[in-house]
Amino acid sequence: MRILITGAQGQLGRALQEVLQHEHDLLPLSRQEGDITDPRFIAQAAAWKPDLIINAAAWTDVDGAEREPDAAFAVNAWGAQNVALAARAADAALVHVSTNEVFPGRPGVFYHEFDEPGPVNTYARSKWAGERMVRALWPRHYIVRTAWVFFHGGSNFITKIIAAADKFGRLRVVADEFGNPTYALDLATAIVRLITTDHYGTYHFTNAGYCSRYEYARAILERAGRDHVPIIPIQHHQWKRLATPPRHAVLRNTLGPRLGITLRPWQDALDAFFQREREA
Ligand SMILES: NC(=O)c1ccc[n+]([C@@H]2O[C@H](COP(=O)([O-])OP(=O)(O)OC[C@H]3O[C@@H](n4cnc5c(N)ncnc54)[C@H](OP(=O)(O)O)[C@@H]3O)[C@@H](O)[C@H]2O)c1
Repeated sequence: MRILITGAQGQLGRALQEVLQHEHDLLPLSRQEGDITDPRFIAQAAAWKPDLIINAAAWTDVDGAEREPDAAFAVNAWGAQNVALAARAADAALVHVSTNEVFPGRPGVFYHEFDEPGPVNTYARSKWAGERMVRALWPRHYIVRTAWVFFHGGSNFITKIIAAADKFGRLRVVADEFGNPTYALDLATAIVRLITTDHYGTYHFTNAGYCSRYEYARAILERAGRDHVPIIPIQHHQWKRLATPPRHAVLRNTLGPRLGITLRPWQDALDAFFQREREA
């Protein structure tokens, strides 16, 4: 297959290249090479005649979206619109990646694929707008929602926790915000399986299980040889942020298993991540 990947230098973009490169003809585009906010992207993408476009490009700075909402909407909503129009112009299937944050995250609720979104911050509203553009403009789409993504060489919760542990020698971490940590390599592998099905629709792909930020930080420090670093559990209101994160936007992957697509538990994925970090 000829596969165009946007946001190719991001965490997921790089993981996708890793799993797709041997069996497919790839056109990986960085932001400089293919800016999805530029309407000319549509003709640029269609000219390459892709069979599939994977939109891994996004504005992912959740707090920054509160400062610069127009910029976040430009990438996550208008950009998604352009990518959907590019897929339509090329008659290509489309994978569009979205987020657990489209859900309000009510404590105790586990969200399946047909649950009603209700974004509570600007980033989430921009991603929800992007999903709606894709659904409205091009039916041959897979929308894949994921959460708490980590990959080698990325900026993510793992790198932030380790850097803070080394800098401060102790941590305060929110214990009442929950999500599903997800290894980009496992997400990319699940997407690769999905694109062979032609089963268009909306999917929730995260590593199995969920945890609080506090539990996640504990698991990271244990694997990073820093389990001596004390972590104080705090409540969300004690950690001031520009954006309001959903407290319990925990995804359930109920449709993937119907197609034989499941992801391993997040703890196993974290083990694999640190194993590879040690080998690098
Ligand atoms: N990271 C998470 O925890 C998380 C959680 C839930 C869902 N997701 C979703 O998963 C997807 C992949 O996330 P990720 O973690 O791989 O994000 P990432 O590492 O931040 O990568 C996003 C990439 O998009 C590029 N980009 C930004 N604006 C662009 C534009 N106008 N045109 C083309 N490319 C542009 C960025 O390039 P520059 O770096 O040059 O700006 C970056 O390489 C996104 O849809 C995100 O919303 C992520």
